[in-house]
Amino acid sequence: MARRKKVYEGKAKILYEGPEPGTLVQYFKDDATAFNAQKKDVIDGKGVLNNRLSEFFMNGLTQIGVPNHFIKRLNMREQLIRSVEIIPLEVIVRNIAAGTISQRLGITEGTPLPRPIIEFCLKDDSLGDPLVSEEHIIAFGWASQQDLDDMVALALRVNDFLSGCMLAVGIKLVDFKIEIGRIWDNDFQRLIVADEISPDSCRLWDIETGEKLDKDVFRRDLGNLNDAYTEVARRLGVLPSNVTHATKPTLIN
Ligand code: CDP
Repeated sequence: MARRKKVYEGKAKILYEGPEPGTLVQYFKDDATAFNAQKKDVIDGKGVLNNRLSEFFMNGLTQIGVPNHFIKRLNMREQLIRSVEIIPLEVIVRNIAAGTISQRLGITEGTPLPRPIIEFCLKDDSLGDPLVSEEHIIAFGWASQQDLDDMVALALRVNDFLSGCMLAVGIKLVDFKIEIGRIWDNDFQRLIVADEISPDSCRLWDIETGEKLDKDVFRRDLGNLNDAYTEVARRLGVLPSNVTHATKPTLIN
């Protein structure tokens, strides 16, 4: 097979040229990074789980009419996506205080927020993805006021959808990050959800026990990351057939 052209390589994914114009192949790596890549590891099978989980969430969003980049899953680690122009902002939605908002504002982790709070961070690793205000975004031209309004609307719909998915399987959606891209349909420009939705970019806590089922397991050395992601995938019914927990062989009659 001819070697595909790599378009971009990030910390957890690689993008290759797709088979048709306007498409890309998104490959999920096993690499885990935290604290702006100061902490790194390779977690066997993480990419396979995130490929499945992102497929599950993006398909669900499509079903409720939230536009996103997902076209179809190609194999264990790859999915076909629409190529977009990524808006250089991370859109964070928070339902419960945790992570940087707790540190920044001194709010105890686990405190429910009065309403979902949306934050924007500039996508720039060399600056550590700093929090930016809407003033900054407009003044520096990273997005227009219309884009911002559309991004907030998209982010809140994703929040409602993901919160519901998680609640149904006994998990609290504490916060998450999405990225949003621009596409053009002829002269008409619109914004769609891009990148990935997976436990790498969410905080997920078990409702009963408070157990963390997301990348904080890796960030804070709380145990085996794959076990946590496998649990999320299992509860949602999206576990790929060949990623299983080691169990005793059972006799098949
Ligand atoms: O994750 P961290 O504690 O560094 O930052 P945060 O602002 O508390 O993150 C809020 C949410 O966005 C968490 O679910 C993170 O996993 C996610 N996030 C992400 O996926 N990528 C980033 N570069 C920053 C945050």
